[in-house]
Amino acid sequence: MSFLLPLLISLLLGLLFWILRGRTRKPGEPPLVKGWIPFIGKALDFGKDAHKFLEEHRRKHGDVFTVQIAGKFMTFIMDPLLYPSIIKQGRQLDFHEFTDKVAPLTFGYPPVLGTTFPGLWEQIKRSFQLLQGDHLAPLTESMMGNLMLVFRQDHLNGAGDWRRGSLYEFCCSVMFEATFLTIYGRPVTGIRHGGMDRLRDDFHKFDNMFPFLIAQIPIWLLGRTLAIRQKLISYFLPQHMSQWTNNSQFIRRRAELFEQQDKLKDVDKAAHHFAILWASVGNTLPATFWAAYFLVSQVEALKVVRQEIVDVLRDSGVDFSTSSDVMLSKEQLDKLIFLESAISESLRLSSASMNIRVAQEDFSLRLDSNRSVGVRKGDVIALYPQSLHLDPEVYEDPQTFRFDRFVQDGREKTDFSKDGQKLRYYLMPFGSGSSMCPGRYFAINEIKQFVCLLLLYFDLQLEDGQNRPGLDPSRAGLGILLPSSDVRFRYRLRSV
Ligand code: HEM
Repeated sequence: MSFLLPLLISLLLGLLFWILRGRTRKPGEPPLVKGWIPFIGKALDFGKDAHKFLEEHRRKHGDVFTVQIAGKFMTFIMDPLLYPSIIKQGRQLDFHEFTDKVAPLTFGYPPVLGTTFPGLWEQIKRSFQLLQGDHLAPLTESMMGNLMLVFRQDHLNGAGDWRRGSLYEFCCSVMFEATFLTIYGRPVTGIRHGGMDRLRDDFHKFDNMFPFLIAQIPIWLLGRTLAIRQKLISYFLPQHMSQWTNNSQFIRRRAELFEQQDKLKDVDKAAHHFAILWASVGNTLPATFWAAYFLVSQVEALKVVRQEIVDVLRDSGVDFSTSSDVMLSKEQLDKLIFLESAISESLRLSSASMNIRVAQEDFSLRLDSNRSVGVRKGDVIALYPQSLHLDPEVYEDPQTFRFDRFVQDGREKTDFSKDGQKLRYYLMPFGSGSSMCPGRYFAINEIKQFVCLLLLYFDLQLEDGQNRPGLDPSRAGLGILLPSSDVRFRYRLRSV
C-alpha cells in the first residue's frame, strides 16, 4: 500500500501531463500550431478573424499547417494551386460523415446515415438534382412570378415619391418570402402566407445561433434557441404543408421520400424541411444584400448593368415600363454577363465558407507531384477560399468592388492565375467537389432576378455619410458573411 499510492499518483500525473501536452508533430507531418489552452487550442483567435489568423500562420509556417481548434486538428491547405488534389478526394477523405453528425444536431432530426433509415441518404442526395438541369427553368419561372408578386404588392404601389428603407431588411423581406413561396408553395386559400414576418424573425434568431450549433454547443445552453427551433420546425409539420399548393418538385419529392420511412416521425420530417429553409435562404439573403449594395454604391456599375437588362429585354421584343409586370426567363438571365460578374464579385468579397474533408485513416496526403504530408485518422483537411478570394496576386486590388472583374472580351472571364499558373479553382462561394452546393444555379438566378427588378423599377440612392459596412465575422467558415450593420437607402419608382 505504502508504495502503491505514490505509483498511482505518478501515473495520474503522467496521464494529466500527456493530456495537457497533447499531440506532438511527427516527421512528415505539417507544422503544428496548438496554442496554450488545452483542447480549445487556437479556437478563440480563429473565431475572432479567421482570414487574418490564417494569413499570419501562412507567413510563419508556409502553405500547409495544422491547427488545433476546439479539440479538432485541422490541416489548412492555403495554396490554391494545391486545391485540385484535395478536391479530387480519394476514399481517404470524407465529407458526409461530418455533415451527418453536425446537421442533425443543428436542425433537430435523427442522423440519416446508417441502418435506421435505409436508402434515405442516397435518395436525399439524388433529390438535389431537382434543383438543377431541366428543373431549373420551372423553378426560375416560379421565382420570377413570386418576386414580382411581392414587389408589386409591397413596393410598387403608390406614386413615385422617394421612400426610405434599410437595404438589408428590404432584401431579406422580399427574398425570404419569394424563395419560400417558390420552394414550399402558397396556401390553398390565398396567394401569400400569413405570418411571414414572424417566421422570418424567428429564422433570424435561429440563424444568429447557427455558428454555435455548428460548433456543437448543446442547444440547451443557447437560451431560447431550442424553443425557437421547435416553433420553426412545427411550421413544416405535414398537417400544415398539406394545406399548401404549387410547391416545387424538389419539396414534393422529399416529402414522398420521408413518407416511405416508417421510423421517421412527423416532427423529424418537418425538421428536414426546415433544414432546407436554412439552406435556401441562409446564404442567399446576405448574398443578395451584397450584390444590391455594391451596385447601388457605384453609379457607373449600376448604369451599365441596368442598361444591359433593358437591352436583353428589348432584344426579346419587350419595351420595359414600370406600369407592367416583367418576366425574365432562364435564357434571358444567362445573357446578363455584367450582372453575373457583379454578383460573382460581391460573392468574392463576402463569402467565407470553409471546405472540409475528414481523414478516414492515417495516410500520406499527396499535395502535388513532389510533395506529400502525413495526416492522421480523424484530422480535418480544410480549404479556406476567402484567402484565395482576397489574394492580391490573383485579384488585383482585392478589397475593391469591380463589377466587370469577371468579364473579358464580352464573355465570362475564367482566366485567373497565381505564380504564373492558371488556377482551376478561383471563385468558391459554393464549396467544391462532391459536397458542392446543389442550389448554386438557382441561387445565382434568383439573385439576378431580384437585382433586375430593383434596378428596373427604382431609382436608388444610398443615404449620405455611411461607410461601406464591415463583414460580421461570426459566420466565418460557414458561408456568406452578414453585414456588420444595415445601410440606409432611398428608392422611388422610375418614370419609364
Ligand atoms: C448565395 C447562395 C448560396 C450559397 C453561397 C451557398 C453555399 C453553400 C455551401 C458553401 C454549401 C456547402 C458545400 C461544401 O461544404 O462543400 C452548401 C450546401 C448546400 N446548399 Fe447552398 N448555398 C446557397 C444557396 C442555396 C440554395 C438557394 C439552395 C436550395 C434551394 C441551397 C441548397 C443547399 C443544400 C441542400 C446543401 C447541402 C448539400 C449536401 O448536403 O451535399 N443552397 N451551400
